[in-house]
Amino acid sequence: MTDITKTIHGAWSSRFAFILAATGSAVGLGNIWKFPYITGENGGGAFVLVYLLCVLLIGIPIMIAETMLGRRSQRNPIETMELLTEEAGADKNWHYLGWMGVIAGLLILSYYSVIAGWASAYVLKAFTGSFFDADAAAIKTLFDEFVASPIQLIFWHSLFMIATMMIVARGVNKGLEKAVQFLMPALFVLMLLLVAYAMGTNSYFKGLNFLFVPDFSKLTANSVLTAMGHAFFTLSLGMGAIMVYGSYLPKGISIAKTAFIIAGADTLVALLAGIAIFPIVFANNLHPDSGPGLIFQTLPIAFGSMTFGWVMGILFFVMLVIAALTSSISLVEPAVAWLVENKGFSREKACVWSGLATWALGLGTVLSFNVWSNVKLFDRSIFQLLDYLTANLLLPVGGFCIAVFAGWIMHRQHSEAELNLPAQGYQLWKVLITYVAPSAVFFVFLHVVGVL
Ligand code: PHE
Repeated sequence: MTDITKTIHGAWSSRFAFILAATGSAVGLGNIWKFPYITGENGGGAFVLVYLLCVLLIGIPIMIAETMLGRRSQRNPIETMELLTEEAGADKNWHYLGWMGVIAGLLILSYYSVIAGWASAYVLKAFTGSFFDADAAAIKTLFDEFVASPIQLIFWHSLFMIATMMIVARGVNKGLEKAVQFLMPALFVLMLLLVAYAMGTNSYFKGLNFLFVPDFSKLTANSVLTAMGHAFFTLSLGMGAIMVYGSYLPKGISIAKTAFIIAGADTLVALLAGIAIFPIVFANNLHPDSGPGLIFQTLPIAFGSMTFGWVMGILFFVMLVIAALTSSISLVEPAVAWLVENKGFSREKACVWSGLATWALGLGTVLSFNVWSNVKLFDRSIFQLLDYLTANLLLPVGGFCIAVFAGWIMHRQHSEAELNLPAQGYQLWKVLITYVAPSAVFFVFLHVVGVL
C-alpha cells in the first residue's frame, strides 16, 4: 500500500516545501481578518483562551491525523477515504467524509474570495492615497460605501477567483512553494511594525487587556462553538486541505514536528493581528464588535497617520491578498485533484468548472452586504449562514470524523508506522485523538443544542 504512487499525483520537493505550503494554507484571512472580528464580537479574553485550548488539544492532534491519512494513501481526499477504509476493513460510509470536505472547501471559497476581493480593492485604495490623514469616521465611510456597491464587490471577487484558478491550474509545485517562502517572513515583519504603532497609541494596554484577560461571563455556548470552529478554520482542518497537502508529502518525514511548526506560526500571526488591531479600536472609540469590516475600519487609520504609512498600507494589503491566495488554492485543491485523478478532467478544465461554481455561489455573499442585507434565514444573512455552516458545523464534524477514523478505525500498527514517533509521543497523540479531541467536539455540540 505504501509504495503506490500515481504519476499524476504531485509531490513536494522537500519537508520545507510542505511546511511552507501548509503554513500558506493555514495563515490567511482567518488570522488577520476573521480572528480579530470574532474575538471582538465574542467579548475578548475568554474567547481567545478557548480558541488557544482548542488549537492545542484538538487542532494539533487532528492536524497530525489529517496529514497522516493523506500521506498514507498518497491520493486525493475522496480516494484516500476509500483506500484507507478498505485497508482497515471498515464501513463504506466513511467515503462520505472525503465528499463532505470537497463540498465544505468550495462553500468556504465562495465567501473567502469575496473578502479577499475586499483586500485586493484596499491595495488600490492604499495606493491612491485614500487613507491619507483620514480619521476613523472617514475610514468607516470609505468602507461602508465600498461594500454597498455590488458591482465593485463582484469585480474584485471575480478578479481574485480568476487569480486563484490560474495558480491552481499550474499545479501544486510551481509558484506556490516560492510565493510562501517570501511572504511569511515579510508578513511577520509587517505585523511587528503594526504592533509597534499600536504601542504608540494611548490604548495599547486596554487592547492587551481585552485580548488576554478572560471575562468568563462573556462566554456563551455559541461563542465556545465559534472559538472551536475557528481553530479548525484557521488551521485549515476538517475538509481535506491538509489531507491533500499531506498526500504530496514524501514518506519518512516527521509529521508531528511539522504540525507543531505550522500551528505555532498560525497562532502567532493571529495573536499579532489582535495585538495590533485592538489598541487602534479603543484609541479611536470604535467598537470591537463591528463585525467583518473591523480590520478595514481600523488599520487604514494607522496607515493614514504613521510615517511611511503609504508604503506600509500598500504592502500590508498586498500581503493579505497573497496570504489569502495561498489559502484559497488549498480550499479548491481537493476538488480539483479529485476531478483530475478520478474524472479524467484536465487540470485547466477542473479549475474552470470548480471556479465557475464557487464564483456563482459567491454572488450570494456579495449581495448579502448590500442589496440582500435584509434577507435573513435563521436570523443570519447569506454570508453569515455560509460562515456558520462551514466553520462552525462542517469543519468540526469533518475533524471529529477524522479523529474517530485515525483513533478508532485505522489499525494501530499503521498509524504507528506512518507517524514514526517515540513511544511516549505516540501514546500522547493516541490519547488525544482517540478520546480528548472527539469528546471535546461532541460536548461543544451538545452544549450548543442545549442538551447540557
Ligand atoms: N486557514 C485559512 C485561513 O485562516 C482558511 C482555510 C480554511 C483554508 C479551511 C483551507 C481550509 O484563512
